[in-house]
Amino acid sequence: MRAVRIDRHGGPDVLTVEEIPDPAPAPGEVLVRTAASSLNPVDHKTRAQHIGPALPATLGWDLAGTVVATHGTPFRPGEQVIAMSAQIATGRGTWSELVTLPAHLLTHAPTTIPLTDAAALPLAGVTAVQALEKTALTDGDRLLVIGATGAVGGIAVQLALRTGATVDALVSRPAHHTEARALGAAHVTHTLTDLPPTAYDAVLDTAGLDAGHLLAPGGRYVSIADEPLPDVPGAVKSYVQENSDHLADLVALVDKGALRLRIAARHPLDEVRAAHERFEAGGVLGKILLTF
Ligand SMILES: NC(=O)c1ccc[n+]([C@@H]2O[C@H](COP(=O)([O-])OP(=O)(O)OC[C@H]3O[C@@H](n4cnc5c(N)ncnc54)[C@H](OP(=O)(O)O)[C@@H]3O)[C@@H](O)[C@H]2O)c1
Repeated sequence: MRAVRIDRHGGPDVLTVEEIPDPAPAPGEVLVRTAASSLNPVDHKTRAQHIGPALPATLGWDLAGTVVATHGTPFRPGEQVIAMSAQIATGRGTWSELVTLPAHLLTHAPTTIPLTDAAALPLAGVTAVQALEKTALTDGDRLLVIGATGAVGGIAVQLALRTGATVDALVSRPAHHTEARALGAAHVTHTLTDLPPTAYDAVLDTAGLDAGHLLAPGGRYVSIADEPLPDVPGAVKSYVQENSDHLADLVALVDKGALRLRIAARHPLDEVRAAHERFEAGGVLGKILLTF
């Protein structure tokens, strides 16, 4: 089978599509034929920096595909599934024509969107769910999402609105205002200084800004970014954990039309270097998919 591998860290040129042996499912695992994955910032960091598993390694966290075989699991061949694999911790990369994963990481794919598009959901969606849990939003709260048109931010805005919160959006550039409004944001800006100090019951920061002054007393500031937290009480980081229950909840929302996945581009596996270059240029609205 073919897989996207690195044997050293560096720019997109370290990505190679290689033939490696087909995997076989161990007890409790499922063998999945990949339909698509997506690019996430962690893939770029794992490619570029000395983090993650020992090399050579297969990259990729998101998986959408079809079950080929299982070893003592409830899944059946032919079922369409999605999963998030914490590649940086486990070394189980998903940018591969065949992937074996423990069954507890899988959930059935949405039925109302193409299977390939479902690859936009796992890492960004589960991250948004778990970070929003830490914001403890209730009806009537005012939330600021920083990076609101990004992959995590775009899902977080939609989920937060379901709690009855008002959601404001800080985006990177004027060209992203329309998208933020389409997601449901009330007030949209690309300028931090436009935002009212001490006005927010919660802030979800996906871009690593120093925006603690916007938090109301007693508010919750949750960051998923690598940058240090602002020095305000109530500031915490959120680190995504593999959780197929959270993924199943997201699938249900997609299937009832309550969560919109945004796809910016679909690149076949052989274009993985170009896909990385496109992503690193920034300004992308929606996920970049890798199709198999
Ligand atoms: N802690 C965790 O468990 C976890 C999980 C998932 C992701 N992450 C991290 O969270 C970050 C976001 O992930 P993602 O997948 O959502 O990435 P993404 O799709 O690239 O979204 C980031 C968004 O932030 C915007 N942005 C950048 N600088 C900004 C600024 N100064 N003001 C407002 N918006 C700004 C970007 O706009 P432009 O594209 O125009 O620059 C983009 O829309 C990444 O660093 C990722 O590694 C952490």
